[in-house]
Amino acid sequence: MKRAYIETYGCQMNISDSELMAGILAEQGFVATDKPDDADVILVNTCAIRDHAEQRVIGRVGQLQQYRREGALIGVTGCMAQRMGENLLGRAGGVDLVMGPDAYRQLPDKLAEVGAKRTPRPALPLAFGTHAPQQPRGLTVLGFDPHENYEGVAPKRISAVSAWVPIQRGCNYRCTYCIVPYVRGDEKNRDPVAILDEVRALAQDGVPEVTLLGQTVNSWEHDGWSFPRLLREVARVDGIRRVRFTSPHPNGFTRELVEVMATEPAVCKQLHLPVQSGHNRTLKRMLRRYTVEEYLEKIEWVREAMPNIALSTDVIVAFPGETDEEYEATLELMRSVRYDDAFLYKYSEREGTPATRMPRDQFVPDEIGQARLERLIATHRAIQAELYAAEVGRIEEVLVEKEGRRGGLQGRTESNKVVTFEGPVELIGSFAEVRLESTSGATFQGELFHAMAAA
Ligand code: 5AD
Ligand code: SF4
Repeated sequence: MKRAYIETYGCQMNISDSELMAGILAEQGFVATDKPDDADVILVNTCAIRDHAEQRVIGRVGQLQQYRREGALIGVTGCMAQRMGENLLGRAGGVDLVMGPDAYRQLPDKLAEVGAKRTPRPALPLAFGTHAPQQPRGLTVLGFDPHENYEGVAPKRISAVSAWVPIQRGCNYRCTYCIVPYVRGDEKNRDPVAILDEVRALAQDGVPEVTLLGQTVNSWEHDGWSFPRLLREVARVDGIRRVRFTSPHPNGFTRELVEVMATEPAVCKQLHLPVQSGHNRTLKRMLRRYTVEEYLEKIEWVREAMPNIALSTDVIVAFPGETDEEYEATLELMRSVRYDDAFLYKYSEREGTPATRMPRDQFVPDEIGQARLERLIATHRAIQAELYAAEVGRIEEVLVEKEGRRGGLQGRTESNKVVTFEGPVELIGSFAEVRLESTSGATFQGELFHAMAAA
């Protein structure tokens, strides 16, 4: 039996793709291992969104060479694999397989193909001064498939409590900073019948929470079905107690969707709505296709319908051409919306994206970008600390997910906040009422108030 180890970088879509790969491999008799040292196959599922993410992977593949020398095959999959293609084969000591996000069904075959070509490792340790045999060049599998939605593949999920359910792959927007459309291709939407079957099966297995995933998840549509309709049907599946979705695009974030969120009890009162910038000129250069005013109007709809909704966002600072004034407008937006959580980034140039063609003298120097990022983070953290402190003392319904890293249990509130508390492991998979006792930055420490029936 072959053992496979998968390491995942990047967003939820990548985590979900790793679950698909694990499912595809399991069907062919591979067993999963959580350690690279006893794996026959090591897959690194990668992200290409920022340069930093790619540098980490290069470093990691370098470290993993020790296992390759001992006979393991190394495959690099996902967005960075698609972006770099052939160029990855010789990097960081070499890899055996480079595979893009539409090719995972071919994993077992391609692994067998490269495995067969490899020179077997020597039975005895190499004598001092001799080199390990040169391995043949690896394979690349990079084609896009406009019909590949991995229908019929049973993912091997990491969590039995909360499940990722991809409903869309790729993206039809072309935000000028973003590499995603070039590495994941155009938008492809899954059939609602298959999605609902999957959600019903999860509920029957006792999974109480699902998160619908897509690059612009609310643009999902299929044969006359809209996203609000799909969300409503998912929320009404028996046994599903919590539904989340990520990430919606502000365009196509409609009143109808707000209505479904507000009226379906299972839809969590939590929304991640990426804004990217608080100035219209920047938004225009980013080709985001909305104005600050339109974005804020949608935030208003949401808060009117669900006054306690938790909001989060993504922001990029130092996008080419960003003036002080434009940056200050982003700070102002953060102060006025007061997000519970925010993912804040400094612009990272991605080869081949439209923003790279802006005049060079418009690019923001790195020190300025760094300073802008740090100030934005500090501003957000101060707001977050106030919002979180105000929640201390509340009793929240927590879906218990797992044991905490430092003992105890860990779960999430409806608003997606992480809470750790002491309690019996039997509570994992069920809901518990937990009193929030204190907060340390991004998480809460709580005390079990009342354990509820299993989900
Ligand atoms: N540089 C920095 N951040 C980026 N993001 C996407 N592309 C880039 C880039 N080139 C951010 C956006 C997006 C999040 C997933 O990553 O904020 O919403
Ligand atoms: Fe990238 Fe824009 Fe598509 Fe999001 S909507 S994946 S930021 S191109």
